[in-house]
Amino acid sequence: MLVLHEINEPHISHGQMRIKLKAISVNSGDARLRSLNVPGPFKLIMRLSMGWKRLKQPILGVAYAGVVEAITSDNRDFQIGDRVIGHLGLKTGTYSEKIVVDIDSIVSKMPNTLTYNDAAAIPFGGITAQYFLKKVSVNPNHQVMVYGAAGAVGSMAIQILKNQGYHSVTAVAKEHHHGFLQQLGADRTLDYRQNEFKQDTEQYDFIFDAVGKLPKEFKKTKLKANGKFLTVGGFDIVKEKKEDLEELLTWYRDGKLQAVIDSEFSFSEMVAAHQHLDTQTKRASIVVIL
Ligand SMILES: NC(=O)c1ccc[n+]([C@@H]2O[C@H](COP(=O)([O-])OP(=O)(O)OC[C@H]3O[C@@H](n4cnc5c(N)ncnc54)[C@H](OP(=O)(O)O)[C@@H]3O)[C@@H](O)[C@H]2O)c1
Repeated sequence: MLVLHEINEPHISHGQMRIKLKAISVNSGDARLRSLNVPGPFKLIMRLSMGWKRLKQPILGVAYAGVVEAITSDNRDFQIGDRVIGHLGLKTGTYSEKIVVDIDSIVSKMPNTLTYNDAAAIPFGGITAQYFLKKVSVNPNHQVMVYGAAGAVGSMAIQILKNQGYHSVTAVAKEHHHGFLQQLGADRTLDYRQNEFKQDTEQYDFIFDAVGKLPKEFKKTKLKANGKFLTVGGFDIVKEKKEDLEELLTWYRDGKLQAVIDSEFSFSEMVAAHQHLDTQTKRASIVVIL
């Protein structure tokens, strides 16, 4: 359940800065926390780490863009007025007007041409895709499939794989996403509901299941004998890294990465944003503007 509360303005201490948020994204991870919709053993782990009876940090949200409005004097990396983009990781808390972050957390200055709304759409899918894709040694000649390519993670994965130089990236998603996925760089597109996917004879060196829903039989039949399979749906939890955010921003500056926004909501429409999120049909990111 989502409830709106007034709280005191957060104060900064040594090594921190306060950011007035301008845009945030509403992600699949937020929905999982809100509804505790995680696989069996994770429920207990999540309860233990996030709070038994109620959440230690009741404010959801991880990905943000905003402007620095207060800073401690020991900080040489940022200044008041800097436009910044970041990811709070397990701490959460971006469903707020203002947040306090450690200067050495996952926060970077925004490229001048990046808008706040677009910025908010980058960190969640981008950093998650980076984490998983970096587990595989890049071989541009390998045949790669991204299953669930239209989501926040999948759409970033397509772009990252192309930036890594892969020649053949197949994006699997419903047909109405295919034009958009080709525009992001996908070399082939297949609809997972159709025979074109079921009967596709391509054998892949690497399959990235970006929604954790690839039916087991296809993992067996479509992966080469010594192929690599990675899924967001297993027990591997993303460890967010600032260097991954920096790399995404470098690609953005070089014109090699796009922020994709499915829809925009105002903060007062947060419930509607979650209702849309729960349909699991969104394309890339939902952004909430503050
Ligand atoms: N392990 C971790 O640490 C970690 C971190 C981040 C996210 N995740 C997980 O990663 C998953 C994806 O996250 P996300 O933010 O990218 O999700 P998302 O944006 O909400 O995913 C929505 C997309 O999923 C696709 N989809 C839904 N059902 C599908 C199916 N049966 N087969 C193929 N595609 C399907 C939809 O495309 P179509 O319209 O084509 O169906 C839609 O575009 C979530 O389950 C999330 O919890 C895990």
